[in-house]
Amino acid sequence: MAKYKIAVMPGDGIGNDVMDAAKIVLDRIALDAEYIPADIGWEFWRTEGEALPQRTVDILKTCNCALFAAITSKPKEEAEAELIPELQGKGLVYRSPIVRLRQMFDLYVNLRPCKAFKGNPLNYRDDIDLVVFRENTQGLYAGVEFHPLPDEVRAVLEKHSPRMAAFQGVPSEDIAVSTRIFTREGCRRIVRQAFEYARKFGYPTVTLVEKPNVIRETSGLMVREGRKIAAEYPEIELWETNVDAMAMWLVKNPQDYGVMVSSNMFGDIISDLAAQLVGGLGFAASGNIGDDMAVFEPTHGSAPKYAGQYKVNPTAMLMAVKLMLDWLGETERARALEQAIADTIAEGQVRTYDMGGDSGTLDMAQAIADRL
Ligand code: NAI
Ligand code: MG
Repeated sequence: MAKYKIAVMPGDGIGNDVMDAAKIVLDRIALDAEYIPADIGWEFWRTEGEALPQRTVDILKTCNCALFAAITSKPKEEAEAELIPELQGKGLVYRSPIVRLRQMFDLYVNLRPCKAFKGNPLNYRDDIDLVVFRENTQGLYAGVEFHPLPDEVRAVLEKHSPRMAAFQGVPSEDIAVSTRIFTREGCRRIVRQAFEYARKFGYPTVTLVEKPNVIRETSGLMVREGRKIAAEYPEIELWETNVDAMAMWLVKNPQDYGVMVSSNMFGDIISDLAAQLVGGLGFAASGNIGDDMAVFEPTHGSAPKYAGQYKVNPTAMLMAVKLMLDWLGETERARALEQAIADTIAEGQVRTYDMGGDSGTLDMAQAIADRL
């Protein structure tokens, strides 16, 4: 029996292109692994009314981790309109399969390293090495939302918060409420993971990015708990910044920062900013990590206009493979893969269109595999 069982979910559009690139590299790496293909994405929504079929969930339950590429998703009405006729009018509602996977398997860490590869013409600077830890299951993306605001909820809010007075006289159908729910343990475990990573990889600081001066209860809880965790890591300095200021600092002096930790939405925003500083969507990978399951993915989507053209940059997908190798404890293979990617980019002979070259997705993957 193989040492690892890994689910492979290419999904839609360029998801297939970049997963084929990953296969070239995985073949060369020769991990002692069984790779199990699993269905996910738009085609399954259209034809089965379910973008994340139960058979895929069942496969994932038997795997150590999964590689996922990209899916297409569309707004509610469009999604319904594309269902095959037999499934229309049944009240099926499209929900993002990746968000569901995060919640279903409690993948509470979203890890997004953004390190500049030397010689990448898309770098904002060459000395950037940022790692974002974004809380992945709670906060504004937990989905506890109301529109119109139900009378009961409104009554409770009015009873318990004097600030609701500001909305007196606005009809409930004209009020939308999205809640931002943090738990103490949710705050603690994401901050702890950030500190553990800083310790393991030798980062001198962890920057906690919130907004506690305004969002007193949720950001406040995160900062208070974060300080307690930080005290357990005396060799690492805790820096605290407000998210708006952080956006500015990341453009002004990105080289000053290392590990950053934040809640779900703020982490989403600063990680996209960080990714763009090191070349953007073609380079950004992430790990959705829980205590005993993880899903690794490039952060880009299915880019329908490039689907099947084998034109897009495979680096993001290959960095997702690198993160997976790290997580599995295959540290030497992870290091070698990152080095091969870095050398290929630095040499500059084989580059995809986004870096100003005309090589294809698989050419670049092959050039990287050849260095392993
Ligand atoms: P996208 O990330 O698919 O593509 C936006 C643009 O970025 C592309 O047109 C292309 O110019 C560039 N790009 C993306 N990946 C690239 C790569 N590997 N190399 C070079 N350039 C690359 O985002 P878009 O167009 O907003 O969304 C397309 C579909 O993907 C939508 O249905 C959206 O919902 C879905 N999506 C899925 C995600 C996921 O699977 N996690 C994440 C983001 C979007
Ligand atoms: Mg995002």
